[in-house]
Amino acid sequence: MRRMVAETEVAPRQLILPMFVKEGATEPVAVSSMPGVVQHSRDSLRKAAVEAVQAGVGGIMLFGVPTTKDAVGSGGVDPDGILNAALRDLRGELGDDTVLMSDLCLDEFTDHGHCGVLDDDGRVDNDATLSIYAQMAVAQAEAGAHLLGPSGMMDGQVGVVREALDAAGLIDTGILAYSAKYASAFFGPFREAVESTLTGDRLTYQQDPANVRESLRETALDLREGADLVMVKPALAYLDVIRAVREMSDVPVAAYQVSGEYAMIEAAAAKGWLDRRRAVMETLVSIRRAGADLVLTYWATEAARWLR
Ligand code: PBG
Repeated sequence: MRRMVAETEVAPRQLILPMFVKEGATEPVAVSSMPGVVQHSRDSLRKAAVEAVQAGVGGIMLFGVPTTKDAVGSGGVDPDGILNAALRDLRGELGDDTVLMSDLCLDEFTDHGHCGVLDDDGRVDNDATLSIYAQMAVAQAEAGAHLLGPSGMMDGQVGVVREALDAAGLIDTGILAYSAKYASAFFGPFREAVESTLTGDRLTYQQDPANVRESLRETALDLREGADLVMVKPALAYLDVIRAVREMSDVPVAAYQVSGEYAMIEAAAAKGWLDRRRAVMETLVSIRRAGADLVLTYWATEAARWLR
């Protein structure tokens, strides 16, 4: 009877798997703060992506881990950089049946770990960063991404990406905007996953956890600039934000269950302190109940299998 009257459902197609691919790797490399998650080699990425698709996930969000990083994140704009090369691999392997997404941000590619380039005072330079995002967008779309995920929280990033795509004739490539992204401690393990050491903090461009109206304003701007989907991130500590964004947005809303949310449950489960599967599914259904149409989660493949 409970199953019959349940108000919320989680379906495999609503789950998006974030994946990491490491330049030059010949074997998958474990991410110690995210047990079960790896930095893939190009080969193991292809295989794991096929498994995710067979489990029924709706899409894949890809992050690249370059061997060399520099001040301007050159590896991100290079059409042969690791992220773009791996996008090409995956598009070749998966075709058009699975939505392929790419992280459009500089922090994986910069030696200072910021999401943009820095000015002479060491602050992130919003507008100088935008022109790099425009180049990255074209490179990622040409490499085969169906949806680009600008995640750097630069003002105007969605508009600039849309304009660059249209100017290059890439009119079918969509934008999943990280609209409401908080300066969160829950991104901690992600730094290990992309081998990023951050100098300073992200307080000049990511949001204060105390704010919800700010998220509505950020989302409204992204919608006006051409976002096809909007995202709230992290998820579990921001369920009210997901609900608020759901209510004001007429496009699909995604939520990102981030690295720290994953690590928290894995660590407690490893100690036998909570029931792993029940805890994972409870968070996923709660994020859906809050209003997310899609959930990015490192458990996507496994959860999709449980749901079948
Ligand atoms: C930025 C980006 C980050 C994450 C996704 N995209 C890091 C950040 O903004 O600090 C975090 C994802 C996670 O923690 O799982 N490229």
